[in-house]
Amino acid sequence: MSKGKILVTGGTGFIGSHTTVELQNAGYDVVIIDNLSNSNADVVDGIERITGVRPVFVEGDCTDISTLTRLFEQNPGIQGIINFAASKAVGESVQKPIMYYRNNINILLNLLELMPRFDTRGFVFSSSCTVYGEPDQNPITEDAPTKKATSPYGATKQICEDIIRDVIRSGSPIKAILLRYFNPIGAHPTAEIGELPNGVPQNLVPYLTQTAIGIRKELSVFGNDYNTPDGSCIRDFINVCDLAKAHVRALDRMLNNESDDALETFNIGTGQGLSVLQLIDAFQRATGVEVPHRIVGRREGDIEQIWADPYRANHILGWKADTSIEDTMRSAWKWQQRIRERGLM
Ligand code: UD1
Repeated sequence: MSKGKILVTGGTGFIGSHTTVELQNAGYDVVIIDNLSNSNADVVDGIERITGVRPVFVEGDCTDISTLTRLFEQNPGIQGIINFAASKAVGESVQKPIMYYRNNINILLNLLELMPRFDTRGFVFSSSCTVYGEPDQNPITEDAPTKKATSPYGATKQICEDIIRDVIRSGSPIKAILLRYFNPIGAHPTAEIGELPNGVPQNLVPYLTQTAIGIRKELSVFGNDYNTPDGSCIRDFINVCDLAKAHVRALDRMLNNESDDALETFNIGTGQGLSVLQLIDAFQRATGVEVPHRIVGRREGDIEQIWADPYRANHILGWKADTSIEDTMRSAWKWQQRIRERGLM
């Protein structure tokens, strides 16, 4: 029996597609809306190959409220929403701030406005550890103060969190969970879905796997003079399938009324900090493939070190990351090889 119908905005993207798989595996029916601005409709086939179920797919833009209204009318009974639809490149957001504020905030406002009208109760928001800025101490808890965002992208995450807080405070009947992701990496172990960045990757792992397969000559390590044991930055790298499962738990929690709080926030990370150099080493050990790399200067705007205190997610949400970094690296590598086999890059 179905556990309910969930709308996944941005469902053909990296995290959205993995979350759709986990939702379907858990017994939810999924409706995806995506404008394919940074993904491909073939992803729906990959989801179907993994789960045996084809989610409903609507190609459309969530900034357009009439498109969304039609979607709700044509798919009655949507109980929850997971909102992944957003622009997400830090560097691009500095170049195109209006686009970032317009997209990310309008999408949220449209969804929050339509939810009570269609009796949709639960909302999961994709937030980011970027809301913390440079932490005063690690691991960082959800109660740490948020600091001024270092990019328009980060600012939209902070503003969206505030909007959700205000809407709930105003007496809206909805419940919401903010999931603050750390650094999502890896791919589904079947290599049917994964991350497919447009152009030259900005993020570490896609750049690393493209270097390993020979598309890029060498990986630049941005700085080895940070105040960390090996001098490179430290992050909390979270497996994307583990991350996807946190969304299923968040929805279960809201739809089963497991908490009296209308708004909750959880850090979604492993609790382990790994440096950039340690990550490269983990990849090489897990796959046996060398990654040519070279230390270069620092990248502007980078945080020195941040990793999660996932206590609340572990003990209150009932979720824990359990994939090893080696398995995650192998999944990323298998996906990179699959991209080549399919001639996608
Ligand atoms: C950033 C955002 C985060 C967002 C994520 C995905 C901030 C503070 N963080 O994370 O909110 O969710 O992007 O878009 O805005 N690195 C290299 N060489 C490379 C690429 C990266 O050394 O070629 C290093 C970076 O300097 C950094 C680490 O790898 O120390 C991780 O970088 P990246 O994957 O881009 O993610 P973040 O910047 O941590």
